[in-house]
This record gives sequence, C-alpha cells and structure tokens, in this order.
Amino acid sequence: MPDSYLLPLRHIQVTKDSQEILWAGLDMVHSTVNRLSTQMLSELNQLLDYAHEVPPAGLIIYSAKTSSFIVGADIDEFAALDTPEKSKSLIQQGWTLFNRLASTSYPTLALIHGHCLGGGLELALACRYRLAVSDKPAAKLGLPEVKLGIFPAWGGIQRLPALIGPSAALDMLLTGRSKSARQAQHLGLVDASIPQRLATTAAAKKLLSGDPVRRVRGRERWLNHALLKPMVAHQARKTLNKKDPHHHYPAPRNILTLWTKHKGNPLGDQRIIAQLTQSPVTRNLIRVYHLQERLKQLGRQLTDDLPHVHVIGAGVMGADIAAWCTLQGCRVTLHDTDISRLAAAKASAHRLFKRRTRSAYEQQQCLDNFISDYNGYGVSQADIVIEAIVEDIQAKHALYQSIEPQMKADAILATNTSSLSIMELAQGLQQPQRFVGLHFFNPVAFMPLVEVIQGPQQTRQQHQKILAFIRSIGKLPLPVKDHPGFLVNAVLAPYMLAAMRAVDEGTTAATIDYALEAFGMPMGPLELADTVGLDIIRDAGRQLGMHHSLPSCLQSHLDKGHLGKKTGQGFYVWTDNQPKKGTAATPPEGLAQQLIQPLIDATSECVRLGVVADDDLADAGVIFGTGFAPFLGGPLRWQRTHRPDPIQTS
Ligand code: NAI
Repeated sequence: MPDSYLLPLRHIQVTKDSQEILWAGLDMVHSTVNRLSTQMLSELNQLLDYAHEVPPAGLIIYSAKTSSFIVGADIDEFAALDTPEKSKSLIQQGWTLFNRLASTSYPTLALIHGHCLGGGLELALACRYRLAVSDKPAAKLGLPEVKLGIFPAWGGIQRLPALIGPSAALDMLLTGRSKSARQAQHLGLVDASIPQRLATTAAAKKLLSGDPVRRVRGRERWLNHALLKPMVAHQARKTLNKKDPHHHYPAPRNILTLWTKHKGNPLGDQRIIAQLTQSPVTRNLIRVYHLQERLKQLGRQLTDDLPHVHVIGAGVMGADIAAWCTLQGCRVTLHDTDISRLAAAKASAHRLFKRRTRSAYEQQQCLDNFISDYNGYGVSQADIVIEAIVEDIQAKHALYQSIEPQMKADAILATNTSSLSIMELAQGLQQPQRFVGLHFFNPVAFMPLVEVIQGPQQTRQQHQKILAFIRSIGKLPLPVKDHPGFLVNAVLAPYMLAAMRAVDEGTTAATIDYALEAFGMPMGPLELADTVGLDIIRDAGRQLGMHHSLPSCLQSHLDKGHLGKKTGQGFYVWTDNQPKKGTAATPPEGLAQQLIQPLIDATSECVRLGVVADDDLADAGVIFGTGFAPFLGGPLRWQRTHRPDPIQTS
C-alpha cells in the first residue's frame, strides 16, 4: 500500500494500490479504538463522495487500530441526545450513509479484526463482502445495543436476518451476544475467517472475485417473508415473556416491531424513536454500562502473564474458583485434605470446561492446567494462593502458619472469607502486607463481581496487582473496606431479613417473591435465601449483629433442619432444583418498596462509612453482586429518582 493519503481526513487514512483498490484505514484520533462518531460518519460520507467521482476497482474498509475494528457508535454522543429530533437526525445520518455504502457500483469489503460491534457490524453488513481475522486479535462480531436498552438503528435489523436468517439473527439481536470469527463463518455472517498474516492478500482477492452477494437460503429465507415474519416474531415474544414477564425491558420488543413492521427502519416509528432518548430504562442501562467500564478500568492489566494460582479447599467455592481460573487460562493447583472433594471438584471442573470451551483442544488444555494437588506441592510455586477452607478463624490461622513459610517471597495470600475480618485473619502472618480478601460469589461462573478487601499494610502497587488479577480472570473487581459483610452481604442481609419479617406478619413467601420480581429483582428474597442456605443466612445475620432478633419463620425452619434448596425444604419445597411456589396473591400496595428500603439504607450506610468509595461504586457493587435490577440504575440511583419531592409532600 502506498504511504501517502489521498484525502485530507482526520480519522480515515485513504490510499489506493496498484490494482486501483481503495483502502480506507479507520484510525480515530486521540483514541485507542474506533467509534462511529458523527465526525467519523461524515468522513465516511466524504470517502464515498470521492469514490463516486473516481470509481475504484473496489473499496476495502479496515481498522488501523491494532486491537479492534469498530467498537460501536459513540455512546457519549448518544447519551447526549435529549430530544427525539436529535435522535432522528443521528439515525438518519447512519441509515442514509450505510444505504449508500450498500448500493455502490464497485465492490466493497470489510476486513475485520478484534471487536466489530454495534454500528461497526452494521457498517460491515452494508459491505458486499466481509472477512474476519481468526487470530491476534480474533474477530468478535455482535449487535449489543439491546443491552443498553436501544436497538441497531443503521440497517442491522434489516440486513442481519437477510444475511443469516431470522432465527440466528433474532438470537443475536435480542440477546446482544457476539460471535467469534469461526462462528460467524459458520452462520454465513462473514464470507471467510482467515489468519492475520493472509488478511490483506485475501481481502484484495475476495474483493475482485466477482462472487455473488451472500443471502440466506432455504427455510430461513422464507421466514424472512413479510407473511411469515409475524409467526417468527410471535415465537420470539413468547421467549421474551418468559425471560421478562414484567416487561421491564422495552428494547427487545421494539426490535421485533421494527423487524416485522418497518423493515428494520426506525425512522418509520416515532414512538420508538422517542423512547430511545426519553426512556429512563435506556439512561439507566447506559449508566450501568459506564459503571461496568469503571470497574474494568480499576483492574487495568499490568501484564499479559497469567499467574499460577494455588487454591486451598475444594468445597463449594474453592472448586469453582479453581475451575474458573483454569478456564481463563491460569495454571491451577487445587489442594484439599479430603481426597474425595478433589475428585468431585475435578469432575465438576470438567463439566464447566465442556460447556464453556469451543474445541476439544481447548478443553484438553484446561484439563492439563487443572491439577489436583493432595500433597499441596503447588503452594511453593504459586503466584497467588487463594484460601477457601471452612469459615473458622482458628482453622484459617493454623493453615496460614503452615503455608506461609513455603510461599514464594512475592506471592499473594488471599482469603475467600465471606464474614471474617481481614484484619483479624492477618494477625500472626510473617508478611501481613501480602494478605488480601477476595470475596467471590456463588455460583462463581455466573457472578461477575469479586469484592477486593485491601489487607493491612498493603502497598498501592500490590493492591493494583490484585485488581489486575481479578480483571485478567474476566471478573469485575470492587475495592471495599474490611467491614462486616463487606458491601454485598451487608446490604443483602437486612433485605432478606425484612422479607422474612413480612412472612412472620402473615404474607406468603410466594407473594413476597412475586412483588420483588415485579419490582425488578432477578429472584425474590426468599427464593434467594433458600438458594444460599438458611444456615448461612443465620450466620451472616449473626456476623452483622442481628442474632438477637432472628425472624421466627427462619428460626422455625432451622429448628426443623430445613435449610433450603440443599435439604429440599425451606421457604419452599424444592424438587429437581426448582422451588414449588404455588400461586402468589396480589401483593399489598407498596410491599416491594417497603422491603427494598433496608437494602437501600444499608447501601447508603456503606458509602457513609467508606466501605465503598462513592455512590457509583456502591450501585455497581449492588447491581453486579446481587443482580439488583439494572434497568433501575442501582439502589442509590433508584432512591434519588423515586424519593418523594420534599416540597410536594410537606
Ligand atoms: P465448604 O465446606 O464447601 O468447603 C470447605 C473445604 O475446605 C472442604 O472441602 C474441606 O475439606 C476443606 N478444608 C478444610 N480445612 C482444610 C485445610 N486445613 N486444608 C485444606 N482443605 C481444608 O465451604 P465453602 O462453602 O466452599 O466456603 C469456603 C469459604 O468460602 C468460606 O470461607 C466461606 O465463608 C466462603 N464463601 C462461601 C460462599 C458460599 O456460598 N458457600 C460464598 C462466598 C464465600
């Protein structure tokens, strides 16, 4: 490729090669990634103007950034849209541009490496051909708009089903899940997946191949027909109703309406455009996205090297932590004094690897990296030792005494305690500065958050190293202070106890759970209590100083040995891991608000005491640690937006 640029553009490097192919390298200034800002869209338009004047043999759009193609539209620009008119104008700009790109007289190709998301994928879909790089960095393609409460507005809803069929397309559109290069090739989303070293040659060859444009064939093609679309949409709505029975999330239903009624064109539906900017759900989901990015930033990676992790205790938590770390690429040794626990842990890790790896090779790699270590040899080689033995301070102290002298000089010692004080656990250590609390949640594979409790005398650099470790295993680190229950359990305990007091006062468990699910919680507090275990709830309550006033329903279940899901009975009878709930009565007015209030108050209290640094981190912790309804923006945000106006109430 020649090295002088043909057009005076800020964000796109345009060159022409000896075969008269135009190469457009996207390179957004002052940014490590490309976003489709209004400026970038306008420059793409100028590029098409130029190509219209002097038609090239073809146009290849690629990214000059090393890490990715395009990560999506500019969310900040989007969040600043405050009127339907402004939203409409932005939709119009992208919609017209991509239609223009789709109808050029010369062939076009998107050469994709790394993330190709949202508007980035819509741009690629408007090209005649798409090639995805399968390695370094492998392409990842998706339309995640639905997760932000919005929808692909620049032709994706129309072009994706036409290309790969409505079944696969609606799955991508309604879940926001992305596809790897290989999966994309299998679906027909890209023409081929290729290694990086062949990318430019393969792109030029494909561009000039004259191959026909891909279209879905067979049954899936018919399902795109206007007469059959309502039937497909009906099926999709049934699935949505199961997942979101209370209609908290409007975006998936809007996407279906746009596909069935407007051929994917939002400009034809004023109501949907208005919702785009004025919906509090969208604003809250965008906020949650920013909170998640903030947690990710806290764990910015210092190095690409994954540590050797030694986990002690192969029980519920240790086994899952070990399996998870292995899946993320760490070498893991797992030790327990009970050999049968190690065998069970290996079997359950195998099941996780089977579910979550994409090839037999990857699965084998995980199995090779997961080492049952009955003799505890791993402790002297590990960079991080994670202790997950029984919740008993003496047992933990005894263990630390025996392992600390064997550990590498700079190795970290972490405890997964859920209720003991980190300060007290660190007492007696030779090097207390290496000690930290890493509070994983159960089930580890599904819970994104890990609370990181800074140990005594820990330096900033060590703390940063631990946050980076949590990020490197794909979790979100939340720094919290040593405080009973840290943040998440400190806010959950009073909430669950309030629900139990409502049972004491005569409301049924099913009615309470229904009220909180309708409010937006992923699971009602009593089903949650049964799932966690009523003995654990009791212990957590004690830890938080609530031992004098256990609700009588809880005490009565405990007296009968009914501990919830694990014993088959608690607030519900459990069969096949499912609670039999019976019919819920209509909840009394304000029940959900009354029961959620203790959680909100505890969250405020944690901020006041400095357990978390600020309101935003508290909201993030409660959303990612308890599943608190993301569409409400977090407990403190919800409190602010729903607190009665003092002027009106006085
Ligand atoms: P568990 O009782 O399922 O497993 C503990 C394991 O540690 C057992 O396999 C036992 O054989 C082993 N063990 C005991 N002493 C040992 C020693 N000295 N050396 C090696 N192995 C030893 O316990 P669970 O539930 O996994 O809890 C472990 C830790 O994680 C506790 O500190 C708990 O508070 C914390 N935690 C538990 C959660 C849960 O939902 N179960 C959630 C978050 C934290």
